[in-house]
Amino acid sequence: MTTIERLLPDGFLDEALRRDARAGLTATPKSLPPKWFYDAQGSALFDKITELTEYYPTRAERSILREVAWSVAGLTGARTLVELGGGSSDKTRLLLDALRSWGTLGSYVSVDVSESALRAAGDALTAQYPGLEVHAVVSDFEERLGLPAAAAGPRLVAFLGSTIGNMTPAQRAAFLARVRAQLRPGDAFLLGTDLVKDPATLVAAYDDMAGVTAAFNKNVLAVLNAQLGADFDLDAFDHVSTWNAEAEWIEMRLRSAADQDVRLPGIGLAVHFAAGEEMRTEISAKFRREGVDRELAAAGLAMGSWWTDPEGQFGLSLSVPA
Ligand code: SAH
Ligand code: AVI
Repeated sequence: MTTIERLLPDGFLDEALRRDARAGLTATPKSLPPKWFYDAQGSALFDKITELTEYYPTRAERSILREVAWSVAGLTGARTLVELGGGSSDKTRLLLDALRSWGTLGSYVSVDVSESALRAAGDALTAQYPGLEVHAVVSDFEERLGLPAAAAGPRLVAFLGSTIGNMTPAQRAAFLARVRAQLRPGDAFLLGTDLVKDPATLVAAYDDMAGVTAAFNKNVLAVLNAQLGADFDLDAFDHVSTWNAEAEWIEMRLRSAADQDVRLPGIGLAVHFAAGEEMRTEISAKFRREGVDRELAAAGLAMGSWWTDPEGQFGLSLSVPA
């Protein structure tokens, strides 16, 4: 059984959800931050997304890790692997196996906002890796990173899946600076970034035929219904995935299918949606190597290695404090 550590004060996440819902639903245009997708149902839907034919990023990143995990482990000699937003920690196993084969691995720390994902992943890893210390930390990595200062170094901090792309450029800069501030000499940062490619491939990855991504997108409304007593009718919204060529990001939105009013008693709010009105629920930025290099450098991180899959769909970088 995994022990869950909660880094944030009691009620912090509930309060953050209320604040975000109020701010996002009263803004023009309306928006909601993507971190609220991930209750138990949302985390399960994300896992389903990673198996879709159209959703290439997980497969591409896994294929890179299969090739380079051993080198990453050798280069870093990490005794502690810290993963941010690890979810089901599936690809993580490639890193754990490699670190174990070098004989350095002592503990794995998984930091995620989703307690259900942490619990499931922690239980599975504890069973599969006897002797490995597994720490599950519930935190919002945009608030508190959760890097345990006491953990044995060197520490390898992994942020996989291109979850960094779900932040705005300003949020990314602040996040990378926070990561840098917590790294000590000898630590390293492994970052997965999905790369710019043809728009048709990108849009399809966020609008699959089976409708799993649509269900994932609408799940944020189910979260507001459950947490704030809201009465969103999920069938009254349509899933939208669109490529913003200027910003080089995918935008997921929910489009109101009709003129409608929604009540959120938990925050004492009623909001009106006009027919056709769109609310942004996620950006998923796509990167180029030069941009990743630049953003890391701006945060005081020096990129030492850069790998891609054979088709050049996804990039993985390893950097160290500059
Ligand atoms: N790294 C995995 C999972 C990616 S899904 C992979 O590559 O497949 C994104 C994960 O980040 C989810 O588990 C979600 O709960 C977590 N997450 C999203 N925003 C977060 C935040 N602000 N703080 C902590 N975890 C967050
Ligand atoms: C977690 N994150 C990197 C995913 C992405 O691709 O932006 C979330 C997701 N949204 C829709 N499909 C997957």
